[in-house]
Amino acid sequence: MKKIKASTPGKLMLFGEHAVIYDRPCIVAAVDQRFMVTVEEIEGEEIVVQAPGVGMHDYRKKLADLGETRIPKGLRFVEETVRSFYEKHKNGGLRIKTENHFSSEFGFGSSAAVTVGLAKALHELFKVEILEHELFEFCYQVVLKVQGVGSGFDIAAALYGGVLYFVTGGKRIEQLKVSNLPIVVGYTGVKADTPTLVRQVAELRRQHPIRVERWFEEMTAMVEKAKRWFPQGEWFKLGKLMDENQEILKKLGVSSVELDRLTGAAVKAGADGAKLSGAGGGDCMIALVGEKKRRMVEKAIEAADGEVLKVKLGAEGVRIEK
Ligand code: MEV
Repeated sequence: MKKIKASTPGKLMLFGEHAVIYDRPCIVAAVDQRFMVTVEEIEGEEIVVQAPGVGMHDYRKKLADLGETRIPKGLRFVEETVRSFYEKHKNGGLRIKTENHFSSEFGFGSSAAVTVGLAKALHELFKVEILEHELFEFCYQVVLKVQGVGSGFDIAAALYGGVLYFVTGGKRIEQLKVSNLPIVVGYTGVKADTPTLVRQVAELRRQHPIRVERWFEEMTAMVEKAKRWFPQGEWFKLGKLMDENQEILKKLGVSSVELDRLTGAAVKAGADGAKLSGAGGGDCMIALVGEKKRRMVEKAIEAADGEVLKVKLGAEGVRIEK
C-alpha cells in the first residue's frame, strides 16, 4: 500500500517571544534537526501510531473514536491532525510512524514539526490539493485546539523553513535573506512548559497592563531593527539587541537561574550578546559569536553546566522524502 514520508525542521526563536502572542512580530529560524513522519494506508478502521520518541510503540485508536476518550500527552497533536483531516476527507485505516532527529526536550518545536509533517503527508497520501497558506491555517487550528495558546510561529518555521519575520497567527510571514548566522546554542537541561509560561505572562499583563505593553512595544522595535540587520549581517549590533531582549524577558519573569547562568557565561567569554530562546523557564539559550571566539563561548557554556547543541539555522521547510 502507498506510503508517504515527510520531514520538517525544528525551530529556534531569535527575537520577540511572548510579545508575538499579542499581535506583534518575532523572528524565528528553522534548524536542521529534522522530524520525520511516515503515513501508510492499512486495512481496517483504526490508526496505529509508532512514536518511540514519546514512548509510544503501538498505539491504536478506532477511527470512530478519534479525538474522544483519553489521548496520551505525546500523541495529542498526531491524533488531532488526523481527526481534523478525516473530518474533511473521510478515509480508512492508517499507520503513522514518527522519528525525531532531536530530543523533544530541547524545545525545538516537536509538536509543530509533527503537526506540519503529518498534515503535509496526509494531503499527499490522499492526493488532496492544498495551498501553503491553507496548510498553515490547518496546522495552526490543530495547535490551538490541542494547546489553547500559541502564535503559530513554530508552524511557520516547520512549513516554510529559513529565517522568518512572523506576526501572530501568520498575519505576516516574510522570508529574510540571512546567511551563515554565527549562533551558538546551549541547552539548560531543563524542559520548559510553554503553555504554563504563556499563561504566567498573560497574568502579569493582566496585573500590570501598561508596563507589560511598554515592554512589548520595546520588543517590537527590536524585532524591526533585527529584521533590517539580519540580511546586512550586522552581527555585533544584533548581539547587543539580544542582550536588550533578554533584559525584557527577565522583567517578564520567564528567564531562569540556568538561563541566566548560561547567557552570562557566554557574554563573559566574548559573545556579542545572548538571550533565552522560546518560552523561557528552561530549554535553550542562544548567543551571537564571531568565529574566533566561538570555541571559547562553547567551553564557557559547558563549564556553566550547559550542553552545546550543534545546529545549523535557516534549514529547509517541510519536504516529502523519497
Ligand atoms: C515559545 O517558543 C514562544 C512563545 O512566544 C509562544 C508562541 O509564540 O507560540 C512564548
